[in-house]
Amino acid sequence: MQKFPLLRRLCALLLAFAAAQAAAAPDGLELYIAHCSACHRVEGQGGIGLPLPAEKLAEVTDDYLHKTIRLGRPGRVMPAFERLSDAQVDAIVRFLRERTETKDPGFDNDQVVGDAAHGELVYNEHCIKCHAADGTGEGEGTGVTQSRERSFLVMPASISNSGFLGSASDRMIHTVVEHGRRWSGMPAFGDGKLSDGDINDVVAYVRSFEQRQSAPEAIGPDERPTHIYESPHDFETTIANIKTALTGANFRIFPDRFVEQGVTDEFSVNQRQVGIRFCNFNVLYGMLKIEPRLGIVLPCRITVMERPDGTVIMAIPNLRVVSRWFNNDELVGLWDQMEETFTEIIDEVTL
Ligand code: HEC
Ligand code: HEC
Repeated sequence: MQKFPLLRRLCALLLAFAAAQAAAAPDGLELYIAHCSACHRVEGQGGIGLPLPAEKLAEVTDDYLHKTIRLGRPGRVMPAFERLSDAQVDAIVRFLRERTETKDPGFDNDQVVGDAAHGELVYNEHCIKCHAADGTGEGEGTGVTQSRERSFLVMPASISNSGFLGSASDRMIHTVVEHGRRWSGMPAFGDGKLSDGDINDVVAYVRSFEQRQSAPEAIGPDERPTHIYESPHDFETTIANIKTALTGANFRIFPDRFVEQGVTDEFSVNQRQVGIRFCNFNVLYGMLKIEPRLGIVLPCRITVMERPDGTVIMAIPNLRVVSRWFNNDELVGLWDQMEETFTEIIDEVTL
């Protein structure tokens, strides 16, 4: 390089230019990591959120992606990102496009003409076992064992969800049914199983879920994903008491960690806060066997936080609320067991 002063200057200039460019436009990768990767994973393989591979993105429009980010999937974990700026949403969509090297397929917004009454028959025969009668993907028979392999991370999407129906065009729904999403268990119905007319009919039926949308369930005071308890002790004593109670209950305790993002991130980070992680391996393995995605929201954590006035609170996952994020009845028993344990430990600590 020393021998080529001009080249060196050019490189420096280019670097400065790139830095200026980067400062001007929001960074899609960074935004994706901050807002999306917890559920869709950094590489987009999916987890709590659906996978976002190239095969899928090639068959959804930019409009669908924008609306999905804005509307979310109410009641299905995916938040509505109302506070991101338009430029930020654009940057995320651009990032998804660049990463997967896909383009907007240019679907029109025309309504598919189909017979919803016949579509219902098609739906009951071919779709109900995974997406359930009401399209939520939750319900009798749609647990892990019915709708997907145990080792399999993806659960059927809610196709009656207002966020989905408000984002997807009829053409897109048609394409999903025709081509399937084979990497995650949604079968393709276009290779002989259903005629084009049948698919139109079932699209009309799926669209009719829109009219049957019930008002969202009221959220009770206990319905937050986190229980908050006041501790009668100071920060250090609270932590020591929790550890004593956990050890007494035969839990193994892992090293403390400062609070990371997760169910408790509504608290400001400049307080003294620490997460005590523990587990009873039998319970943990039992859960992971039923629902591998639980690894991501591992419920074995008590977070202790000191408020500015010195009082201390303990935050514990509200497993009844969190368990609704997973449509899996098998888990309920285990979660109830965990809730009971949590309650006993809190009683012991606060006494
Ligand atoms: C807290 C978890 C969570 C976060 C954070 C999240 N998502 Fe999702 N996302 C989901 C879930 C769950 C679904 C599927 C909903 C369903 O099953 O009905 C979903 C669905 C989607 C879909 C629709 C996929 C399809 O097959 O049609 C897209 C696109 C998407 N998310 C993009 C994003 C982007 C971009 C971000 C960040 C701005 C984001 N998500 C943040 C959980 C999340
Ligand atoms: C074996 C289970 C199974 C069956 C049967 C099934 N689906 Fe799916 N479906 C899935 C899964 C899993 C997904 C999520 C896949 C993904 O996006 O990666 C899905 C996704 C979808 C989506 C896209 C939702 C979104 O958020 O992007 C639509 C639309 C859909 N299914 C409609 C249907 C219709 C209509 C039928 C019947 C003709 C049907 N499915 C049958 C499992 C199934």
